Amino acid sequence: TLPHRVTLVDVGPRDGLQNEKQPVATEHKARLVAMLQDAGLKNIEVTSFVSPKWVPQMGDNTAVMAAIERRPGVRYSVLTPNMKGLESALPTKPDEIVVFGAASEAFSQKNINCSVAESIERFAPVVEAAHAAGLKVRGALSCAVGCPYEGDISPDQVERVVLLMKGIGVDHLGVADTIGVGTPRRIQAAMERALKHYPLHEVSGHFHDTYGQALSNIYACLEMGIHTFDTSVAGLGGCPYAKGATGNVATEDVVFLLNGLGIETGIDLDRLVDAGAFISEQLGRPPVSRVARALLAK
Ligand code: HMG
Ligand code: MG
Repeated sequence: TLPHRVTLVDVGPRDGLQNEKQPVATEHKARLVAMLQDAGLKNIEVTSFVSPKWVPQMGDNTAVMAAIERRPGVRYSVLTPNMKGLESALPTKPDEIVVFGAASEAFSQKNINCSVAESIERFAPVVEAAHAAGLKVRGALSCAVGCPYEGDISPDQVERVVLLMKGIGVDHLGVADTIGVGTPRRIQAAMERALKHYPLHEVSGHFHDTYGQALSNIYACLEMGIHTFDTSVAGLGGCPYAKGATGNVATEDVVFLLNGLGIETGIDLDRLVDAGAFISEQLGRPPVSRVARALLAK
């Protein structure tokens, strides 16, 4: 049986916008967050505390965190790759932080400029300090089925990093298909390795839709009982260190799927489409979401 309720984490403000070349105004980022919470999103990944030389679009991280209007019951998360990131993030009062590692050595080098082992060494004090500050720590595991530099990634490679993350006390594991090459059975095989070491409610899927497989992969995860997914309003996004990778699966498309399955999300699809239309207008292009396009054409 499928889960009765699914939690969606909208990563649009962070994953969605990080790859945009044109600067998006801080107030528009805050407005996007406001519209997402108006639509019923209870988990929003707002920004990342990474080097502004590497990812200029996230350079206004502190200003965005100050500009959002917080609502009770909504959890705001931010990416923190190292202690410097965490130290900058803490005064902005996130509810959760995300450390991000990879199943692939080459991707780790390109994305965060260190090996997998070094990344775990850098994350360990971040996890400890975040816990001391009362924050939950999510770990993103990139390239869980494929890497833009190394090709196929095996479940064994995934499990190795799952164990490393668990070893330093990461609370939640997000299995990420960074370049969207996964198909249902391969995604299930990666997920199984995460579920060997983390409980169902602490494992989530993060699927980029580059090859159009993300909805199928989410369905395959639902069949395993997984009930938390990262999605991105309007299908925004892509990783600067994974060339050609497109956005995360669109939140609108996932909500439509879950509505059809009778699975609760607490999200109002019409208001979500409004949020996607707003940010797409700022970016000067239509939403990637098929559902948004269909509903906007009505
Ligand atoms: P580094 O160069 O190895 O770090 O970068 P460093 O400690 O040697 O410092 C070098 C310079 O960066 C110094 O500045 C530091 O102060 C500065 P300088 O003295 O040269 O002026 N610096 C920082 N500045 C601001 N915030 C920080 C920070 N740390 C150092 N936290 C680092 C290491 C990780 C910082 C760098 O490689 C970086 O910023 N990479 C960007 C990574 C990124 O944002 N990637 C995209 C997000 S991950 C993703 O999208 C995948 C995900 O969605 C899941 C999936 O789909 O797979 C999560
Ligand atoms: Mg991503």
